[in-house]
Amino acid sequence: MITLALSKGRIFEDTLPLLRAAGIQVLDDPEKSRKLILTTNQPGVRVLVVRATDVPTYVQYGGADLGITGKDTLIEHAADWGGSTASAGLYEPLDLQIAKCRISVAVGADFDYESAVKQGSRLKVATKYVAIAREFFASKGVHVDLIKLYGSMELAPLTGLADAIVDLVSTGNTLKANHLVEVEHIMDISSRLIVNQAALKLKQAPLRGLIDAFGAAVKLASA
Ligand code: PRP
Repeated sequence: MITLALSKGRIFEDTLPLLRAAGIQVLDDPEKSRKLILTTNQPGVRVLVVRATDVPTYVQYGGADLGITGKDTLIEHAADWGGSTASAGLYEPLDLQIAKCRISVAVGADFDYESAVKQGSRLKVATKYVAIAREFFASKGVHVDLIKLYGSMELAPLTGLADAIVDLVSTGNTLKANHLVEVEHIMDISSRLIVNQAALKLKQAPLRGLIDAFGAAVKLASA
């Protein structure tokens, strides 16, 4: 049995067409059913629905053989395990080119970020992406106090909790609706296929087959 871990929401929606192109059809709808293990048209393949941040953990410990997760989640996970996906026991064979977005720094429309940075002020930055934010500001030589949040980062500058946030931006609508402006583009993000390195040795043929099928599906989608 091959177990694939997916997260609910945007990544799941974007993954379904890719799965279909790779020959896998999910037979249950996670939005309608409360089932957390979904069956597929392939008797040897099942899908787990977990929180996005738990996908690398399931794959690392072998609860799933492979998974699909955002590069943002992967970088944050790897930071706890020596800094790279490989040191976390994960093999990252493919950029799936889905759920594309970016990680940016945003501030309240009336906050003068340029001057604050130029003057060497210590910035209070709220984020879920602590490793990415720490690395980015360190590379700029900007001193920051990082405040870890788990969601709704946009509230932090509005309430005085922080001067800036580091968050995902897709359409930019959430920033706009909350009177925030993007002041730095840190990196582009997309979803990646990750595979448990030990499983790849034990179940080489089916996993290689799936990785190749995903690779072909990505090529087809971008053609
Ligand atoms: C992400 C991100 C922003 C929003 C950006 O949140 O944290 O809030 O999407 O998208 P936009 O630029 O298209 O408005 P998500 O909905 O993934 O939930 P989260 O708050 O749990 O991270």
